[in-house]
Amino acid sequence: MLIAGNWKMNGTPDSMEEFGRMIARAPEATARGIDLLVCPPAVLISKFADRATVSKIAIGGQDCHPKEKGAHTGDISAEMLAACGASAVIVGHSERRADHGETNQLVAEKAAAAQRAGLTAIVCVGETEAERDAGQTESVVAAQVDASAPPSLDAAKLVIAYEPVWAIGTGRTPSVEDVAAVHALIRAKLEERFDVPVRILYGGSVKPSNAAELLAVENVDGALVGGASLKADDFLGIAIAAPKKG
Ligand code: PGA
Repeated sequence: MLIAGNWKMNGTPDSMEEFGRMIARAPEATARGIDLLVCPPAVLISKFADRATVSKIAIGGQDCHPKEKGAHTGDISAEMLAACGASAVIVGHSERRADHGETNQLVAEKAAAAQRAGLTAIVCVGETEAERDAGQTESVVAAQVDASAPPSLDAAKLVIAYEPVWAIGTGRTPSVEDVAAVHALIRAKLEERFDVPVRILYGGSVKPSNAAELLAVENVDGALVGGASLKADDFLGIAIAAPKKG
């Protein structure tokens, strides 16, 4: 089980205090075999990674450029993230797909770049509300998995996060039946192409009060948490709510 926190564009050096509280409480989760990952804004990765060496919290980035280095103003490479202490990076989050026009192909390139740098790539997929209303959830998610997580990736360093766009930051979540159906579809797609099991996270309005129910769903191997990952008590509350799975 992996509980990953996506801090998005939140946090300053003052956030070290809250992160310190997470480190203090982390053993409550890690003692139960739950892996913890925090993805702060890029400017805080080094600081968080230095502090996290005394804990079992892994640190990740929220995006990377496909290239290793060069004339790409404002961009950050996977190699830079790794050198600053990150062990994972989120790619293809729906906010990047929407705000920066990221295509499945670009997301696949970023995932490959992450793995080239030795990072675990967390590839995000998920339908919009209009796509769900049109009955296209399964076809959209299947196409995203096909194109953003190609068989050329290393399954041992791959995580898929299913995040329905309409559930992100809205307080709304799909029913457990809907989560189960989409995760089963993603599992089947991954098993077609990889021999090694790949973790599938659910993301979108996960909080301590709904974590136990969502994390108990078959083929849900953890959560990608936005808003509720900013507070140590909420983040650890989610991790501690995770049921033991085989
Ligand atoms: P949320 O965000 O938990 O605030 O809904 C999840 C995400 O976007 O990763």
